[in-house]
Amino acid sequence: MPITILAIESSCDDTSAAVIRDGVILSNVTANQEAHRQYGGVVPEVASREHQMKIVPVVDVALQKAGVDKNEINAVAFTRGPGLMGSLLVGLSFAKSFALGLGIPMIEVNHMQAHVLAHFAEAPYPTFPFLCLTVSGGHTQIVLVRDYLDMEVIGTTIDDAAGEAFDKTGKLLGLDYPAGPIIDKLAKEGQPVFKFPQPKIDALDFSFSGLKTSILYFLKRELKNNPDFIDENLNDICASVQHTIVRFLMKKLIAATEQHKIREVAIAGGVSANSGLRNALRQTGEELGWNTYIPAFQYCTDNAGMIAVVAHQKYLAKEFVGQDTTPLARWHL
Ligand code: KG4
Ligand code: ZN
Repeated sequence: MPITILAIESSCDDTSAAVIRDGVILSNVTANQEAHRQYGGVVPEVASREHQMKIVPVVDVALQKAGVDKNEINAVAFTRGPGLMGSLLVGLSFAKSFALGLGIPMIEVNHMQAHVLAHFAEAPYPTFPFLCLTVSGGHTQIVLVRDYLDMEVIGTTIDDAAGEAFDKTGKLLGLDYPAGPIIDKLAKEGQPVFKFPQPKIDALDFSFSGLKTSILYFLKRELKNNPDFIDENLNDICASVQHTIVRFLMKKLIAATEQHKIREVAIAGGVSANSGLRNALRQTGEELGWNTYIPAFQYCTDNAGMIAVVAHQKYLAKEFVGQDTTPLARWHL
């Protein structure tokens, strides 16, 4: 009998559903929420309302695309956390009703574990143990991955996440939210001519709040002399910001590979869609003899396919949860 699982992701502002059969993703459908753009960031209340509206149609399309009937589903998986409480509640409530209606078990998934295991959505797969730099709008971590369900955070940010650094800098530059992909695009047309100080932080940890402040003061200074400074130099400013963030991420990742003597190196999370980071990983990998892994674009940003990959492993390990499960807005790996 094949194992077929429906997975739901609703931790932030993407409503997503996926179907996985025997570890192979049959469908992965995501509805993005455009409603936040006008506010310059995710508004939690708006996010949960949008999830409410979208979850049923998104699941329907995922089942249709997979060519799977509800009655063929053996378990339903959901993101338990970390994330926005209201958003998580929508996914969890849906999963509870679905499980109850069909008499099937539920599987809880940690969103950060899912970003890491997104590498098993499509070949080539990393071999264990590997290091994964998970960089998203809410998190920046280096994870030592010993096995599918055995991983440890060995470095983390003490303030902002890398995605936040992109988004907040974008806001200073007058760019739309989320600014990460826009900065990436503009950076391609510019040169990293402006120098920003590299954050100073011990061990394998990260810090981005100082960078944001130094960019703010830099812009204030330049705008005093030339009110059109941003317009005239936007591409170069974006290239400089991206260069600084990518260099900092790579510095820590290199230190982690040296400390743990591991040459299997992966990146995951929304910021792993960044072309500067992808190129830096490939180039450093070639220089230092690493095997590098970058997920396909659809598995970088939030998606239920990655939730489904974790769920398949948990199904094999018989790790189910009951109807009394509550969301965990904070849930460390
Ligand atoms: O993983 P994700 O979709 O959601 C969270 O769990 O946070 O990551 C979203 C983050 C946003 O901060 C967005 O600006 C950033 O990923 N991002 C990028 C790029 N694409 C998405 N940052 C830089 N360059 C990109 N190409
Ligand atoms: Zn995420």
